Amino acid sequence: MIKFDCLTLFPEMFEGILQDSILKRAIENNLISVKLHNFRDYSKFKHHNVDDSPYGGGAGMVLMCPPIYDCLHDIEGYEKAHKILLTPQGRKYSQTVAKELVNYEHIILICGHYEGFDERIRTFVDEEISIGDYVLTGGEIPAMVIIDSVSRLIKGVLHNDDSAPIDSFENNLLEYPQYTKPFDFLGMTVPEVLVSGNHQEIDKWRKEEAFKRTKERRKDLLNDKQ
Ligand code: ADE
Repeated sequence: MIKFDCLTLFPEMFEGILQDSILKRAIENNLISVKLHNFRDYSKFKHHNVDDSPYGGGAGMVLMCPPIYDCLHDIEGYEKAHKILLTPQGRKYSQTVAKELVNYEHIILICGHYEGFDERIRTFVDEEISIGDYVLTGGEIPAMVIIDSVSRLIKGVLHNDDSAPIDSFENNLLEYPQYTKPFDFLGMTVPEVLVSGNHQEIDKWRKEEAFKRTKERRKDLLNDKQ
């Protein structure tokens, strides 16, 4: 069971993924829990502002410390939780990081928004994560990426417990090609080995194909091989 708590100004953005069959079932089966906290509710201002203009001037608005700090401190067990700030300046996310995060019992995700956040917010968290070298309008999509990719690694979340180990990136290899019925589609037939019934040959073919595909498409993964 992993508890996720998300601090966000847009909790409704998460509805889609939490209503998707796999994560919904994981919640129903108590394999994960996801609580959304709108830190706007912690604003002390009449108009519930959570941002202000930057000291020193310049364009844009900056998220303030107090609402995020107060919201965080209202989460039960926040001291022990693994606290993550989503930002393009963070450690680059990958399947390896997902496998690391699945070991935590409680993860708190802080989604920044707008143009930026007060530098002191960085002191509230254990680490910063970026999902890639591009800039999104907020941390919500990255938080969903983390919830989804970590949850599917929890035993019992996927229908078939065998699925996760054959995924792309297991052993730093991309997944081998898969086929299903019909055998012949527009003249494109399934490799004969897969209908041979020889499981040793099938395993060998799959390993070779995974390696070939990785070499063709993602040579960098082979260089990373531990
Ligand atoms: N917020 C905006 N862009 C982001 C990214 N690439 N990763 C994590 N958080 C972000």
